[in-house]
Amino acid sequence: MRDWPDSAELLTFYDHNARKMPWRVGPKERAKGVLPDPYRVWMSEIMLQQTTVAAVKDYFERFTARWPTVSDLAAAEDADVMAEWAGLGYYARARNLLKCARYVVTEHDGVFPDTVEALLTLPGVGPYTAGAVASIAFDQPATVVDGNVERVMARVFDIHTPLPAAKPELTEKAAAMTPRERPGDYAQAVMDLGATICTPRNPACGLCPWRSDCKAQAAGTAAELPKKIPK
Ligand code: ADE
Repeated sequence: MRDWPDSAELLTFYDHNARKMPWRVGPKERAKGVLPDPYRVWMSEIMLQQTTVAAVKDYFERFTARWPTVSDLAAAEDADVMAEWAGLGYYARARNLLKCARYVVTEHDGVFPDTVEALLTLPGVGPYTAGAVASIAFDQPATVVDGNVERVMARVFDIHTPLPAAKPELTEKAAAMTPRERPGDYAQAVMDLGATICTPRNPACGLCPWRSDCKAQAAGTAAELPKKIPK
């Protein structure tokens, strides 16, 4: 077993198994140098907080059809945006969406910034969203940590410290794992791995590209990780 799983093996898995999503540019296109529109990546990541991919898809299509650019969204009426968001929940996200769009237009000439640091100054954009936009839209080797990534890191390194105390260690592992090659594909590959194979219950370890380098798989502890302190 390697000390560290190999990001190249996960990327090969992603090349063959990437889930198609309306905001994604697939690995074949990305290999040709095509990157997704940062506006679409940002919007998808805001919508995907606390909401499933299946629930987000139609909302994302309606929003981007009605407001194709950040300038279009910035010029929208508050009430129209809130009405279009109805049913998606966590309405503070919709208010921040509009606030952020207007901020990008007034403070950044309608162009999304391309570094984690600058992205963090945008309204409603925290470390997760900044990392996701920097890596997916700009191919920066930014660290992206969501629940999927925490679970995958806890398993491959067999970390038994419970959440939330384990967060700094899991973030450190996630940062160290992030490759300088294809960081945008890698960020999405870890999310896909967590959503389809390294699932919370009954992980499909037999199908996992990292199975031979996963410490929890070797120890037989994958399904019980990450540990959590009961709320
Ligand atoms: N969840 C949050 N962001 C995602 C993304 N870019 N792809 C898949 N699932 C996600």
